[in-house]
Parts: sequence; structure tokens; C-alpha cells
Amino acid sequence: MDFTKKNILITGGSRGIGKAAAMAFAKLGGRVCINFIKNTQAAKTTVDSLPGQGHFAAKANLSDPIAVQELMETVIDEFGTLDVVVNNAGIYLPHPVEETNYEDWRKAWKTTLDVNLFGLANVCYFAARQMMHQNSGHIVNVSSRGAFRGEPKHTAYGASKAGVNALTQSLALELGEHGISVTAVAPGFVETDMTQNMLNGKQREAIKNQSPMGRVATPEEVANAIVFLASDNATFITGGIIDVNGASYLRS
Ligand SMILES: NC(=O)c1ccc[n+]([C@@H]2O[C@H](COP(=O)([O-])OP(=O)(O)OC[C@H]3O[C@@H](n4cnc5c(N)ncnc54)[C@H](OP(=O)(O)O)[C@@H]3O)[C@@H](O)[C@H]2O)c1
Repeated sequence: MDFTKKNILITGGSRGIGKAAAMAFAKLGGRVCINFIKNTQAAKTTVDSLPGQGHFAAKANLSDPIAVQELMETVIDEFGTLDVVVNNAGIYLPHPVEETNYEDWRKAWKTTLDVNLFGLANVCYFAARQMMHQNSGHIVNVSSRGAFRGEPKHTAYGASKAGVNALTQSLALELGEHGISVTAVAPGFVETDMTQNMLNGKQREAIKNQSPMGRVATPEEVANAIVFLASDNATFITGGIIDVNGASYLRS
């Protein structure tokens, strides 16, 4: 796979899966912009670690529609063209019914949907309009096993990712005639900051044993699926959602 002369935006690229994807694209010759929200040092460290030239970091809170518009204008201005967008940024807020008052419940739902679904949809809007001019492009969304299996105590998260899957399929149908593919990956547990508390807690072994492989995914394993979906090896894959969950949940 070759991403030479390809311009790639990865939301939430400062850490975790987004960072691994940035490295994977850069190693294949791509020029990468990583978006982040607050962790300027992590974003800088990630950009500095990437092989090749022209990479940059762009701070923007995806839950703010104006910030998304400014981010997309900056990225398109800087790059000139936009070949790949990886909608990876996401949050995972607990709000168990039994322990959450109504106000906090509504806050958790709004905050989660604003980032995981509306922010992602707004990035897709600007990415798709740019890619339509070019008659080509790949949008890869980072969904979750939770969209299919359910996500107890994180119901807004599960719903947001189910929304991402539906958006992926709808946009794939809408944008195919413009040469744009829209796909998703649906990871199970991945070793990142998002899951650090759970994976370092007493549930660690049980979580690992959800997979017959007896472990969780590395961010690099998810990045490999993202890169494939964005590559010329996946030219007729659109609307598809790839599970990266070590058979911890099999859907029919
Ligand atoms: N880890 C898992 O087990 C797992 C499983 C299934 C799906 N996923 C999905 O994979 C994606 C990445 O997860 P991860 O585990 O790599 O996450 P992570 O380690 O927590 O990193 C989150 C990234 O998103 C950025 N971010 C968070 N909120 C943002 C916002 N409002 N605007 C812009 N950027 C924002 C963070 O930026 P800062 O560094 O500035 O905070 C960071 O770069 C998410 O969509 C997640 O739902 C993860």
C-alpha cells in the first residue's frame, strides 16, 4: 500500500488508535494532520515521531460545529486536497442508570452524542464536499463492538456508535457515485488510555478472555484495518464495517 502524495486527516490523532493510524499512514508515505482537543504535548510528540514531511497537528473540539468548520478549512487550505479522513475521536463516559441522576444522565447523553456522532457527522459533511470536487476519497469511521453487542453503563456510547454505523451506510450509498468510499471499523477492547482503568483493574483477565485469543487488541491492529480500508486495495469496499474484536463478539 502506498500513500505517497495522499493527504490524511485523523481526528483524535494525538493518542491511542488515532496515533497508531497516523504512524501507519506516515510510514506508507502519507502526509498527516492529527486533530486533538487539549493534549498539545501528546499531539506534538506524535507529529514529531512521524516519518516524512508536512505533518501537522490541529486543535479543535469536535463537539463545537464552528470549530469543526474551521478545522476542515484549515486542513483543506494547508493540504490543497483531502484524500482520507479517519473519524476516530471519541469519548466513553459512564452513566449507569442506577447511580446516575437525571441531570447527569442527560449531560452524558448530550456530551457523548455531540462528539461521537454529531462531531463526526459534521467532519463528514466538509470532507465529503471536498472529496466530491475531487471525485475521489475515503472516509473511515471508528465505530465499536458496543454498537452491536450493547454497551451497559455506557448506553449513550453504544447508541452513538450505532449511529456511526448507520451514517456510514447511508453516506456510502449517497457518495459512491462521486468516487468516495465510506467504511467503518468496529473494535472490541483496545489497549489505550480510554480503557486503561478497566484493563488495569480486577476485570483485566475477564476482559482478555472475552476473546478466544486471550487478549485485547493493540492500537496498531486497529490502525492496520483503517489503513486497508483507506487504500487502493479496498477499491470496491464501501458501506462495510470490519470487526476488529478477536472474535469476542460475532454478529450474523
Ligand atoms: N479503546 C477501545 O477499547 C476502543 C474500542 C472500540 C472503539 N474505540 C473507539 O476508538 C476511537 C479512539 O479511541 P482510543 O481508545 O484511541 O481513545 P483515547 O486513547 O481516549 O484518545 C482519544 C483521542 O480523541 C481525542 N478527542 C477526545 N475528545 C475530542 C473532541 N471533543 N474533539 C477532538 N478530539 C477529541 C483525544 O485528544 P486529546 O489527546 O487532546 O485528549 C485523543 O486524541 C474512539 O472513537 C473510541 O470510541 C475504542
